[in-house]
This record gives sequence, structure tokens and C-alpha cells, in this order.
Amino acid sequence: MKTRITEMFGIQHPIIQGGMHYVGFAEMAAAVSNAGGLGLITGLTQRSPELLAQEIARCREMTNKPFGVNLTFLPMVNTPDYPGYIKAIIDGGVKAVETAGNNPQKYLPALKEAGVKVIHKCTSVRHALKAEAIGCDALSVDGFECGGHPGEDDVPNFILLPRAAEELKIPFVASGGMADGRSLVAALALGADGMNMGTRFIATKEAPVHQNVKDAIVAATELDTRLVMRPLRNTERVLKNAAVDRLLEKERTLGTALTFDDIAAEVAGVYPRIMIEGEMDLGAWSCGMVAGLIRDVPTVQELIDRIMAEAHSIISQRLARFDAA
Ligand SMILES: Cc1cc2nc3c(=O)[nH]c(=O)nc-3n(C[C@H](O)[C@H](O)[C@H](O)COP(=O)(O)O)c2cc1C
Repeated sequence: MKTRITEMFGIQHPIIQGGMHYVGFAEMAAAVSNAGGLGLITGLTQRSPELLAQEIARCREMTNKPFGVNLTFLPMVNTPDYPGYIKAIIDGGVKAVETAGNNPQKYLPALKEAGVKVIHKCTSVRHALKAEAIGCDALSVDGFECGGHPGEDDVPNFILLPRAAEELKIPFVASGGMADGRSLVAALALGADGMNMGTRFIATKEAPVHQNVKDAIVAATELDTRLVMRPLRNTERVLKNAAVDRLLEKERTLGTALTFDDIAAEVAGVYPRIMIEGEMDLGAWSCGMVAGLIRDVPTVQELIDRIMAEAHSIISQRLARFDAA
């Protein structure tokens, strides 16, 4: 399938794997790229620019297809060495970067000069227009249903995507709640040129996370996510568990007096033990409502082939039938 996104990133299918902390290692990114999508290494999961450079080199050994790097700009206790990470990306010959969180304007000139295409992930039309205006090449428009940080506007994709299509000139992918061929066709119908998936890619054979994480996603329904950190205006959609119950109880009792320190035990530095060790109740971890549509753990190739076959069949059969009638 050819779209502006497949053309821009030199990929076979209009499917991107969003950056995911402690999931987006070389194994994940390479599996998605080898299956014809665009895999992304999560930059900040690598603790230094040197480690990111090594991860990029490792990914290159696993695939000769294009892959990218996610760089997330969120409020953090210690600001990462962003210029160092950008240098590692450019020196590593990576040609696609997904930025997320704060405005990436400061880093665009260096990336553009190196011929890197920048896809900025955002959760509102207002931020999408800003990203277009500062020169981003594409957007990943992330609806309220998404795993991770949905922002504070709470606009779901059935509204957000057509609104983005009305306003934007540059291509965008639909992100949040995407799982299968139905999602892809719906995304295309609403004006997107492809889709970005997070949670769905975790429940695959190649995802380098503990089996407990994959099992938890398969077992979850669409009712099992919760929004945390809303009082801090840093909302995150996570899978409900014992730590999340504890965290929400603190939010309720402390009200407007809540500070990050009050919930640090549930959210700070918990990813390695959850994703690698499989300690599922240790803390809050991002998960989308789309868990309700995930019922198996296929290989990435099986998943992407199935999505594309389903999408083609919906377009050429189900939709064509309505068109003919
Ligand atoms: C476990 C997990 C970790 C994530 N970590 C990041 C991250 O570090 N940076 C980022 O930009 N997005 C992150 N995301 C968001 C995804 O890139 C993607 O936008 C989102 O998962 C899409 O929604 P979906 O889960 O419904 O597919 C994360 C998502 C999950 C599920």
C-alpha cells in the first residue's frame, strides 16, 4: 500500500511502531522494520548518547530496512543530553526521528541538515499546527484512547483525526487505539496516511519484554486502563494494578496538594523491573484501551501481514459492496 507516509519513510506498509520506554530496543524496532513497517528505538531508554549509538549499531545488524529513533521531551528531574542524542542519531545514519512531548523546534535545524525526516507526535490540532509551522515533516496524531500520555484535552480519534485532516497540509498517521486492519482502514478514511501502534506491538513474540507483560495485555479488556497524574497535568494512561490503585488513592486524598514526590514510588524508575523482570504490580506502566482488542501474541511479521490482508479485504470487499449498492 502506497501513501505519503510510506513514500516519506521508504517503507512497504503505512505502519509505525511508536517509541516505548523499555520496549523500543533494537529487537523491537528491527522486527517491525523487517516486516515492512517503521520500527523505532526509544532514545531515552538508552541512558547515554553512547549507549544509543550502540543500540543503533545493533539494530543495523538486525535489519537493512529503514528504522528510526524516538526522542521524548517530557518534564524530567534531570534533563537528558539531547544534543548528544541528536548527534548519535545523525552519526548513526538514522533518517527518521519521532519526537514527542515538548516542542522540538530547537533540534530541527540539525536534523533537517542531516536529511532526517521528523514525525512529531501530539495530542491536539493546536500542537499539530504548531509542529507543521516549525517544519516537521509529518505528524503522529495521538487520540485520548492511546497508551502513554494522551495530553489534557481528551479528544478521541473519531473527532481528532478528521479535525487534523481539515487543518494539516503535511501527512499524519493515526495513533492510539490502533490494532488491526479495521483500524488502518478507519484511519485512512478519517484522513490519515497510516497508523502508529504502541500497545499492540508489545504483545508480539519479538517484543523484548517479560512474558507477564504480554499476558497482562492479552488478559486486559478495554475497561482496564486508568488515567494517572492528571492533577499534575502530566496525564498518563496505564494498566490498572495494585500500584495504580494506591496512586489513585493518594491523588484522591491529597487533592490539589499532590506533588510528584508523593507518587514517585509508583511512577519513577519502575519500567526496568516491570518490563524486564515482569513485576507487574510494581508501578504504573503505559497501556492503551486497545488492550481490549488484543487477544494473541503473534510474530510481528504475522501481525503486520494480517493487518494488511484484512485492510485490503475490507477495502476491496466490504466497502466496495457498499459502494456498488
Ligand atoms: C509501554 C509504553 C511506553 C511508552 N513510552 C513512550 C515513550 O517513551 N515516548 C513516547 O513518545 N511515547 C511512548 N508511548 C506511546 C506510544 O509511542 C504510542 O504513541 C501509543 O502507545 C499509541 O497508543 P496505543 O497504545 O493505543 O497504540 C508508550 C506507550 C506504551 C504502551
